[in-house]
Amino acid sequence: MKLWEGRFQKELSATTNDFNSSISFDSRMFSQDITGSIAHATMLGAKGIISDADMHTIIDGLTGILEDINSSKLEIDKGCEDIHTFIEAELTQRVGDAGKRLHTARSRNDQVALDVRLYLRDECTQLRSLVAELIATICKKAEEYSDAVMPGYTHLQRAQPVTFGHYILAYAQMLLRDLGRLDDAAKRMNISPLGSGALAGTTYNIDREMTAKLLGFEAACENSLDGVSDRDFCIELASALSIIMVHLSRFSEEIILWCSHEFKFIELDDAFSTGSSIMPQKKNPDIAELVRGKSGRVFGDLMTLLTVMKGLPLAYNKDMQEDKQAIFDAFDTVKMCLTAFIPMLETMTALTDNMYRAAAKGFINATDCADYLVGKGLPFRDAYKCVGHLVAVCIEADETLESLPLEKYKQACELFSDDVYDAINLEKCVRDRKCKGAPCPENVVAQAQAILGKLQK
Ligand code: ARG
Repeated sequence: MKLWEGRFQKELSATTNDFNSSISFDSRMFSQDITGSIAHATMLGAKGIISDADMHTIIDGLTGILEDINSSKLEIDKGCEDIHTFIEAELTQRVGDAGKRLHTARSRNDQVALDVRLYLRDECTQLRSLVAELIATICKKAEEYSDAVMPGYTHLQRAQPVTFGHYILAYAQMLLRDLGRLDDAAKRMNISPLGSGALAGTTYNIDREMTAKLLGFEAACENSLDGVSDRDFCIELASALSIIMVHLSRFSEEIILWCSHEFKFIELDDAFSTGSSIMPQKKNPDIAELVRGKSGRVFGDLMTLLTVMKGLPLAYNKDMQEDKQAIFDAFDTVKMCLTAFIPMLETMTALTDNMYRAAAKGFINATDCADYLVGKGLPFRDAYKCVGHLVAVCIEADETLESLPLEKYKQACELFSDDVYDAINLEKCVRDRKCKGAPCPENVVAQAQAILGKLQK
């Protein structure tokens, strides 16, 4: 069934028909299409553009179609050009002439722009709760490991002591910003294009505010050309989704490293690890690797959308049909990744002894040792130089700052005395890092609590 038969003498060739059709990927918007059509019909009836009787017939017919698709009584005909065509044809087949009146004062161009917005609005709600769930999971883990000392890194070289709780809360902060980005994009998207028509509105006396309100939009768009040709919201969402994937991918990379025997900071639950077909000893972090790998898909989706849109003159162009696969794939992928990532993290165990051992070996208390000399009156630069020399002495003698005898300290600087060992004690180094945003255990608990509180709002 075609919506545009009148002008044409020939059928579209079968291969071109497949090429032209979008139903294989836009049929998932069936309920949004029906909801949009019910609002449109309600408005047409209210404005006297169609009769009350037709309005009711259309609404009942559409409601029946929705029920039948939901209960699998009605199968979507994949031979149709798109979901809009299918629903309208099915309606007309069920209710006759009233069905043919539904498309009065509407075009598929404003219809599809509407459906995609409605669909993505629901997707944003789902995604939001998954991201929030991950943040909450991180917070609970952080509280569990609020005092687990581990080395913090710069350049992947052991740098200064932090706590594992503090470390993973950095990811909770990133994800909180992701929530903000999602909310911003969803808010900007929440403007109704319905009534923009094909591109130039309509001469019918429609009520665009009414349909906007019925569909839960903040307002109706101001410009009909913009209404049908704007896909900024897809790009914006794909970009917010890409940033989520950057965060998930970085976190995954750390998990992969931490699982390795070189680090051995964590143990993943067997349920979230896989083995090798040949190497019996292997336990691989496949889930984290897949999440890291799938970030590429989402970045690709963003690039697709940017490229599809960049050269399009106003208003609707068929190129824009390509928006859906990209943005749907981005949402599907991120939701799938989060669904796998959350329980993987939840069941992960931190090997705190290994973390501590790594922290004890890397001279990560060298800054604290220098600060100790500063406390004794030495300028920081001189203290820095002196401790640098001590580190070299340790390396030479295969010692750590903790095990180096006091006389070696004293040879380097007279200001050292017995209390240096306390000053460079790892737990103390972490406990004393209590300025705002620093990794001491109380801060970790407070930070986790504050984030959990924010999520409640
Ligand atoms: N399937 C089309 C799309 O996804 C619907 C809009 C068709 N409009 C048109 N003028 N051909 O973009």
